[in-house]
Amino acid sequence: MTSIGFLGVGTISEAVVRAMCARPGRADRILLSPRSAERSQSLAEEFDQCVVMETNQEVIDHSDIVVLGMRPQQLDEAVAALEFRHDQVIASFIAGTPPSGLAPLVAPAATICQLIPLPPITLHRGPLVVCPGVPEVLAAFDGLGDLIVLDDEARIRVLSCASAIMSTYFELQNHVIDWITDHGIDEAIASRYIRSELDGLAAVGQVTPDSQRRDLPGDFQTKGGLNERVRAVLLDQGWFDALPGELTEIYDNAVLRTPGGQ
Ligand SMILES: NC(=O)c1ccc[n+]([C@@H]2O[C@H](COP(=O)([O-])OP(=O)(O)OC[C@H]3O[C@@H](n4cnc5c(N)ncnc54)[C@H](OP(=O)(O)O)[C@@H]3O)[C@@H](O)[C@H]2O)c1
Repeated sequence: MTSIGFLGVGTISEAVVRAMCARPGRADRILLSPRSAERSQSLAEEFDQCVVMETNQEVIDHSDIVVLGMRPQQLDEAVAALEFRHDQVIASFIAGTPPSGLAPLVAPAATICQLIPLPPITLHRGPLVVCPGVPEVLAAFDGLGDLIVLDDEARIRVLSCASAIMSTYFELQNHVIDWITDHGIDEAIASRYIRSELDGLAAVGQVTPDSQRRDLPGDFQTKGGLNERVRAVLLDQGWFDALPGELTEIYDNAVLRTPGGQ
């Protein structure tokens, strides 16, 4: 049985804890830090696996894996007076601080990895980046989605920035639904239709072999048909160049953690 301690039980930690506790056949012990008392307490009441500890140090002392789930600007203060052990594994959700940046803060613990969980983890879906692929962490987070292992921490920023398409995706979804309702169809039907269409397309995207991924746009349009007309106009207008352009902009310029952690 693995003991997994969470320091910082906020939005993303709660999503991950809920996903962990919903996995069948797992008996991990989940130790929660006492701050955010209401959230930690309700997790402990809901799941037998979860226990709220009295202090952050107690979480560390009883954990095989310590998950850091606070915001970047809270990190330095949170870990300042804590003592880690050399034999425990540190798994961090904190954006902008790679394992090498965490090392001096959690010494003598030396097995450190960064994770990028995304909200669909609550449904055991979506990617979960793990860098590097520490075996204990891969085992502890198994079943929570598609574990994407990166070996080079210098590349974490690429996937962090690439994940910034979530709200745009839902904006796209809602614009098409609104267009349908503007044309006289009931919102419930419009919503069901488009969300089901997107679900079906995502499923096709998942089962299509990588070698055929680039064929999909052509496969899903008829020569001279409606899909081809819409895509051609959007391509012509630079619609699809705008997206990687903006990803490059945030990759080059966005501050994920400012110097000094402010
Ligand atoms: N949200 C996402 O989708 C997402 C995805 C990937 C990665 N992340 C990363 O995950 C981290 C957490 O994000 P979040 O959205 O979950 O933030 P959040 O909801 O603000 O959660 C942070 C939690 O840490 C607690 N905390 C702060 N200092 C603490 C301390 N000294 N001891 C114990 N707990 C402490 C906070 O308590 P208080 O509320 O009392 O301050 C809060 O409950 C961030 O570093 C973010 O970069 C988030």
